[in-house]
Amino acid sequence: MISSSLPKAVKIIEVGPRDGLQNEQQTISADVKIELVNRLSQAGFVNIEAASFVSPKWVPQMATSAEVMAGITRRPGTLYSALVPNMKGFEAALAAGVDEVVIFAAASEAFSQKNINCSIAESVERFRDVARAAKENKLRLRGALSCAFGCPYQGEVSADSVASVVQQLRDLGCDEIDIADTIGVATPRHVQAVMQRAAQEFPIEKLSGHFHDTYGQALANIYASLEVGITIYHASVAGLGGCPYAKGATGNVATEDVLYMLRGLGIATGIDLDKVVDAGQFISAQLGRKAVSRAGNALAAKRGN
Ligand code: HMG
Ligand code: MG
Repeated sequence: MISSSLPKAVKIIEVGPRDGLQNEQQTISADVKIELVNRLSQAGFVNIEAASFVSPKWVPQMATSAEVMAGITRRPGTLYSALVPNMKGFEAALAAGVDEVVIFAAASEAFSQKNINCSIAESVERFRDVARAAKENKLRLRGALSCAFGCPYQGEVSADSVASVVQQLRDLGCDEIDIADTIGVATPRHVQAVMQRAAQEFPIEKLSGHFHDTYGQALANIYASLEVGITIYHASVAGLGGCPYAKGATGNVATEDVLYMLRGLGIATGIDLDKVVDAGQFISAQLGRKAVSRAGNALAAKRGN
């Protein structure tokens, strides 16, 4: 059932420093990453995915995660999150002082193998120890569910496979679960059906939408998710990003575009769009290319930078 009114406020999780930068081929210094996170903190995000404690052989760009976490200026009220695939990653995340660890599973067996080198069932077993350790250390626990709308290796993914992994992440004690369109193939009605199926297994107010914009559908998919009551969204400043294990997948939806749309809809976020535009222009200049954010570039052009 589609509700007639949209939420009055939503939470935006800024994933640019992690999802955005992990796929960059050029080495980005820890100092640049730190400045990016600091600029995003100043813009008022309550949650920033700042790091990833994965194998540096698998994702070299994230090898500076401990340095980044040590160098940032923490804004009171902001949670700094990091991806953690196993206990080795958990120990590093704990030592780095992250506030929230993100375990990441897939709704597709093929993607699970390519991304974390094990089956879905094996990953859930591995995450059991991480989940327990997170609770013992009073860290927030988030579960990401990749390929919820399609897989680059296996193709179609059913809503029931999504629901099954949502149940398993819920049983591990996740405080929040991300329903992710890793390769950006979803369209609005499909998104609504999957979100509503996931909401049968986990409280809808703790489900989030993580949309890559590969096929240009991400804003439409966010609007569709708003219609069914999803109130948490991930976005990446300047539209940075992609997954090294999902060939052809481009960046997440650009944060500037999401904020511009939400502002127009009268939906509160607590985030200063102008400061996000600045952060987007900053990181794009560092990377030597134009931001992949229509609203960000338009707003920057309008004020002459
Ligand atoms: P493996 O090769 O099976 O692991 O990889 P292993 O346990 O056999 O260890 C191999 C080596 O890695 C060992 O080192 C370990 O010590 C080391 P060696 O003895 O060869 O020198 N190692 C680690 N080092 C640092 N930190 C660790 C760690 N773990 C092992 N945590 C593993 C398995 C899971 C480690 C690997 O597959 C991996 O790191 N995968 C991560 C892939 C990744 O980060 N993908 C992108 C993030 S997911 C994503 O972007 C999707 C998302 O945005 C949502 C969406 O859009 O869908 C979240
Ligand atoms: Mg992603």
